[in-house]
Amino acid sequence: MKERIEQIRNEVLAFLVDEKAGVEKFRLEFISKKGKISELFEGIKSVTAGDRKELGKVLNELKQLAESKFKELQESIESKSNHDLTDFDLTLPTIPNKTGSHHPLNLTRYRIIEIFERLGFNVEDGPEIEDDWHNFTALNFPENHPAREMQDTFFIEKNPDILLRTHTSNVQIRLMKDRKPPFRAIMPGRVYRNEAISARAHCFFHQVEGLYVDKNVGFSDLKQTLYHFAKEMFGKDTKIRLRPSYFPFTEPSAEIDISCLICHGKGCNVCKYSGWVEIAGSGIVHPNVLRHCGIDPEEYTGFAFGMGIERITMLRHSINDLRLFSENDIRFLKQFKSVY
Ligand code: DAH
Repeated sequence: MKERIEQIRNEVLAFLVDEKAGVEKFRLEFISKKGKISELFEGIKSVTAGDRKELGKVLNELKQLAESKFKELQESIESKSNHDLTDFDLTLPTIPNKTGSHHPLNLTRYRIIEIFERLGFNVEDGPEIEDDWHNFTALNFPENHPAREMQDTFFIEKNPDILLRTHTSNVQIRLMKDRKPPFRAIMPGRVYRNEAISARAHCFFHQVEGLYVDKNVGFSDLKQTLYHFAKEMFGKDTKIRLRPSYFPFTEPSAEIDISCLICHGKGCNVCKYSGWVEIAGSGIVHPNVLRHCGIDPEEYTGFAFGMGIERITMLRHSINDLRLFSENDIRFLKQFKSVY
């Protein structure tokens, strides 16, 4: 018995811990009701009364030793974890969680869609590789008419009837041919033109086409829709101005200007000192276009518009070079928060 007590005493003294779980292990092994020391107390019940007195004393000393060691262990672990905390400089910045950002053109596109969806417009899609009929003829561009040269077209060499669409107006045609009026849709997408790349022009860019065809749609509907859009997009104090223009597929046609966001009409180099900047082309859908799509112009009328996503993004964020959108320079892209 004596030897057993001695052995456990050595175990208690030798016990080392370096984490919290070790302290609990010590308690279970030596101090708890089912621990080794309780076992020894059980054991001395079976020794002679004379021996029991002496053994009891030794055992009580062992119990006290274990309890004070337990306290010691608890304290040392606690101060160790406090110490660990002080090893960190809590004022240092954390490692940033880089989540990436949306492309600014997408942010503008999302916002345009959001505004028009609230007015009941659907979002439609069409092909970027198009035939001459959908890109030009159906839109009332006469054969061999100089209007076709207004847009420098990329033709497919083997088949000049196939081209890269020069505008999103082709989707108007596909929509009107495939389905029955009324239509209320916007059609965002990429378009291509054979232009020299500069700060103000690129060989590909993005447009949003709009089309509203129903009974009794008039110019006032067009004007109010675009006025609402301008205020939502650029702020409630934004004004719009319509300038007479020409597009083969609309009659009458108008260019939409907004009051300059930068100088508020006073004149600056963004608005070329006019106080106005152009954001869209628009007009009343030409009867020939409706006819080409099998819609009776006596029964239905409509308005259409087309705007450049790059242009609107440049105005929103004061960006002065179109090339930045396609260079993928992370220093440019990361400036745009994922909020539209
Ligand atoms: N398609 C024209 C362009 O590429 C933009 C445009 C003007 C679209 C007037 C329209 C419109 O739907 O009515 O520049």
